[in-house]
Amino acid sequence: MKAKLFAATSFVLALVLIWPALSSAQETNSIRLLEPQTDAGSPLMQVLKDRHSTRTFSSEKLPLQVLSNMLWAAFGINRPDIGKRTAPSAKNRQEIDIYVATADGLYLYNAKAHKLDLVLAKDIRAVTGTQGYVAEAPVNLIYVADFARMGERPESEKVFYSAAGTGFISENAYLYCTSEGLGTVVRGAVDRPALAKAMGLRPDQRITLAQSVGYPKN
Ligand SMILES: Cc1cc2nc3c(=O)[nH]c(=O)nc-3n(C[C@H](O)[C@H](O)[C@H](O)COP(=O)(O)O)c2cc1C
Repeated sequence: MKAKLFAATSFVLALVLIWPALSSAQETNSIRLLEPQTDAGSPLMQVLKDRHSTRTFSSEKLPLQVLSNMLWAAFGINRPDIGKRTAPSAKNRQEIDIYVATADGLYLYNAKAHKLDLVLAKDIRAVTGTQGYVAEAPVNLIYVADFARMGERPESEKVFYSAAGTGFISENAYLYCTSEGLGTVVRGAVDRPALAKAMGLRPDQRITLAQSVGYPKN
């Protein structure tokens, strides 16, 4: 009886002692993004005048504030009371997920919590496209349409709406990058089966486009 009580007490004590370590390990699986700076940036007309694609990137990492701003600009929640976003989506299905591939790993942008959830602790940047610069860009965004979120409609419609939805998000990212002096290029040249495998996607999660982001190399 005494032995059982001792074992139970030891178990509870061990749990109490290791709990902080467990919770902080869970914390390291996500990156809390910073509040977007919505009072900064260049005037829209100037940004439109300057927007262009860039294909040479320096290895300089994006500061957390810049990454936070960019993801929010791309597809963050701009009306928290109704959960709507900076880009429109057909029937407000919000079917596009933004995955973020960096040297540290692959993350999923969690717009609701404004954080990055770790998906894979592995550098898969080189697999995110078929062009050489993708391995050097510090950030590669991968746009993934979750067809399961799009309701009952023909597959061709899901393909069309998710492609359109990706376009809006990608352009938001372009505009933010231009405003911030970052280089970017949206990319269709992606080996989708290879990338989907590396990311561990389900069959009804479809990669639409990818987009490299970083400071331009000059
Ligand atoms: C749907 C789409 C797919 C694209 N795919 C690629 C690509 O795979 N690789 C690339 O280097 N650029 C790609 N681009 C970028 C275009 O080449 C670029 O936008 C075009 O040359 C015009 O240049 P600008 O963006 O500087 O105006 C793509 C653009 C779009 C809209």
